[in-house]
Amino acid sequence: MKVLLLGANGQLGWELKRTCPQGIILTTCDYPKIDFLSTTSIITCIETTQPDWIINAAAYTAVDKAEEERETADRINHTAVRQIAGLCRKNNIRLIQISTDFVFNGKAHRPYLPQDTPDPISVYGKTKLKGEQAVLEILKDDAAIIRTAWLYSSHGANFVKSMLNFFETKSELNIIDEQIGSPTWAHGLAHVSWKAMDKNLTGIHHFTDAGIASWYDFATAIQEDALSLNLIQKEIPITPIPASQYPTPAERPFYSVLDKRSLWQTLDLKPVHWRKQLRSMLKEL
Ligand SMILES: NC(=O)c1ccc[n+]([C@@H]2O[C@H](COP(=O)([O-])OP(=O)(O)OC[C@H]3O[C@@H](n4cnc5c(N)ncnc54)[C@H](OP(=O)(O)O)[C@@H]3O)[C@@H](O)[C@H]2O)c1
Repeated sequence: MKVLLLGANGQLGWELKRTCPQGIILTTCDYPKIDFLSTTSIITCIETTQPDWIINAAAYTAVDKAEEERETADRINHTAVRQIAGLCRKNNIRLIQISTDFVFNGKAHRPYLPQDTPDPISVYGKTKLKGEQAVLEILKDDAAIIRTAWLYSSHGANFVKSMLNFFETKSELNIIDEQIGSPTWAHGLAHVSWKAMDKNLTGIHHFTDAGIASWYDFATAIQEDALSLNLIQKEIPITPIPASQYPTPAERPFYSVLDKRSLWQTLDLKPVHWRKQLRSMLKEL
């Protein structure tokens, strides 16, 4: 089976490369060879590769910058995805599109189900939702959308690596404790994506690591585990603060927990708690 991976240099893309199962012929097409702002490069990349499947792990992921760069975010997360879906339809290619918890408004009091009504509150969330809708409209049962959240990996920039840097360079930290989600090691999501392909998954699905946390809980756990693994030498105080004390250009959902149960069942997955996954990632560092 021939698979074209888009976004191979991102966190998830890098994990997808290193977890690629035997028997898959993996081709990657990266910026600048493919630029989601260039229709010609998208067509060339897909039509010269002629894969059986595409995994789209590329996206405009700068959530705050998207508030200013609305058009660029929309072209990458929506228009390009629409073009990719159209080429998949034309060339009989199946698609796995990665999406986000930011399609929800965060006002729920229970984990979001895949069939819950989206209501994004940021430009990034809105553009990702339009990308999802284009995929479903064009490809129907020839595509799967996997929404995830709070991704980190030993490759790329993320919350875990920022915290490790801050623990060495700052004397104290203030971290928001009222936004709740599920930290997710991209490595686990990569395995799930390959399994989803193997099972010809279709429709909208949710996947994150199991358990929930606030950013404050997450930061505290990173410090605790990093100390025990000797990745950092000193402990600094971490103070929980409300979101109002750390204003950002993009509004973020307060409650961002995704319900994964249906995917666990469909793919026969064993839930793994985010603390366990965090430790595995830190051990790699
Ligand atoms: N990070 C999170 O916390 C999070 C949470 C929920 C959902 N997600 C979703 O999960 C997926 C993977 O996220 P990630 O964290 O792995 O993202 P990432 O590390 O930011 O990687 C994004 C990838 O997209 C590529 N890209 C950006 N602009 C491009 C363009 N114009 N043309 C071609 N490629 C372009 C980047 O290429 P370069 O490396 O060349 O820049 C990079 O390889 C995305 O769909 C994201 O929306 C992420």
